[in-house]
Amino acid sequence: MATITETLPAPTVVESTLNFYSPPKDGSIPYNVVYDVPEGTPTRNYENLAQKVEIIDVRGRESEFTLDKNGFQFERRYHAFKDWSDDERIKKEYYPGVINAIKETTGASKVIIFDNTIRTKDGYRNPVMFVHVDQTPRSAEDRVRLHSPDDADVLLSKRFQIINYWKPLAGPVEEFPLALGDAHDMAEDDIVSVEHRYRDRTGATGGVKYNPNQKYYYLSGMTADEEVFIKCYDSRDGVAKRTPHTAFEDPTSKPDALPRESIEVRTLVFYD
Ligand code: OGA
Ligand code: FE
Repeated sequence: MATITETLPAPTVVESTLNFYSPPKDGSIPYNVVYDVPEGTPTRNYENLAQKVEIIDVRGRESEFTLDKNGFQFERRYHAFKDWSDDERIKKEYYPGVINAIKETTGASKVIIFDNTIRTKDGYRNPVMFVHVDQTPRSAEDRVRLHSPDDADVLLSKRFQIINYWKPLAGPVEEFPLALGDAHDMAEDDIVSVEHRYRDRTGATGGVKYNPNQKYYYLSGMTADEEVFIKCYDSRDGVAKRTPHTAFEDPTSKPDALPRESIEVRTLVFYD
């Protein structure tokens, strides 16, 4: 007798090469330099390991993936705001919608936005072709002390998270979609702390070592009305802690595909 699972179509899977972390050959502490350095000075001291992986399209079953189970969550939401050329207006007119979106989706009581990054072909930053986690537990705590020094101790005594709120500026995204690794399948040893050196302070990000147990997902053809919440840190144990992510070259995207345009907003998320 046929079961329901047998009648479901197989998920669409694409194969692509992702760049993973490979440690410095000389055993030194890994770092990125993210301020302007004299020409010829290296801005990192570790290598990429290119590895072919399967990336599963979640289109049609987005709701199976949640921040607490997998570390990422897709939702739909309309934002009237569209003037991405003006950072002051982004802060005044787009940020409040982001705060609402995060509160609605997570039940958080307080959200502090500390950064945004626009990625387009010209003039802004490019997609990131490297599997990474934006924060380490240590750098996540440092972020709270940096942006909310007066009540950091109180805030850090309860549950807090770092969540990136990522969405296309236009869509459907055809080129360089974002792949997300299921937090559930990430071993603690797969993630390596990499110093992130700003001019005035040093933070940290997570480089991700390849492990065949890892599973990667993406949402094909994301539109401007679709969003993904990317968990970078959670102080709570027993839930998804953080999700590695990277842009990837989609082998099915057409040669004349429009360049991907996106904005990610980085937020500190607190609970009562
Ligand atoms: C992020 C991120 C990369 C990209 O949102 O944290 O790493 O290519 N984005 O959009
Ligand atoms: Fe990131």
